Amino acid sequence: MVFWKIKDVELDDVDSLIYFCIPPEKRNDRFFIEGADVKRAWVRKSLEMFGSIAKMAYLDSTPVGLIQYQPKPKKRLLEITCIFVPDKRNQRRGIGKALLNALIEDVKKPRGFFDCKPPLAVVTWAFQVPGYYPQNEFYLKMGFKKVREDDPFLLYYPLEEEYVYQPEEAVFIPQAEDKGRALIFYDPSCPFCMYFAEHIKNLIRDVAPSLPVRMVNMFEEVEEVEKRGQVPQCAVNGKAINASFMDRENFQKEVREALEV
Ligand SMILES: CC(C)(COP(=O)(O)OP(=O)(O)OC[C@H]1O[C@@H](n2cnc3c(N)ncnc32)[C@H](O)[C@@H]1OP(=O)(O)O)[C@@H](O)C(=O)NCCC(=O)NCCS
Repeated sequence: MVFWKIKDVELDDVDSLIYFCIPPEKRNDRFFIEGADVKRAWVRKSLEMFGSIAKMAYLDSTPVGLIQYQPKPKKRLLEITCIFVPDKRNQRRGIGKALLNALIEDVKKPRGFFDCKPPLAVVTWAFQVPGYYPQNEFYLKMGFKKVREDDPFLLYYPLEEEYVYQPEEAVFIPQAEDKGRALIFYDPSCPFCMYFAEHIKNLIRDVAPSLPVRMVNMFEEVEEVEKRGQVPQCAVNGKAINASFMDRENFQKEVREALEV
């Protein structure tokens, strides 16, 4: 029998939350230091705004799992951004399920930013990380539904009876100032954000060494994000780059095409 406890992340636990996801050998890497700094700012501000943005599971005093989330008050939805039980020795012992259930019970309580009602649903984009049990399979086993049959990653769990989540079909709306530069939109709630952004910058520099690059913090610069509709991870010369930065060849091909327009 394994005993763990689940705790809401508070200001005193910020470092525990940040370093939980950063591999020890990466902690002195410049881009993970920057990633930790932007995440720290995000956690502090989000805790002030929403009171609760993550729960962690502890075995004695050692953190063994986390679930991280963010309310989207305008849509009355709660978005889960991450669930993670990294150590194989702790997996398959009910920790992930207990974290998710604790969150679902918690969000049913009325909150001011949801007009004192529970959210309509919990939604998540359950991307897969090689080498780990896929998040999307976990959520489907936990009762989540697919938003679209052909999208294995976008999932939701309705909290209001018969609610069906149908996101608006949003498109990227480039702005005049996006011409002649690259934009990288990063999510400060993930400590890998600066590391990934640097990877993207290098791929762009390879193709267009003098193209200016503007970094957009998706939490701090809400107006910049909202006026562009559905933002991609990267846009070049006003065109969304849809290939993943992990797919170097297609990513750079799209960058070249965007610069030819
Ligand atoms: C998904 C995850 C959080 C599940 O955590 P966990 O504590 O191991 O899950 P639980 O023990 O609560 O399992 C709940 C159910 O999920 C399913 N499940 C979990 N791991 C499984 C595995 N390896 N194989 C098959 N089913 C599995 C089972 O149905 C299980 O119930 P059961 O054990 O009663 O059959 C964990 O596997 C993980 O961290 N995966 C990586 C997630 C990821 O990529 N996160 C993003 C990081 S940036």
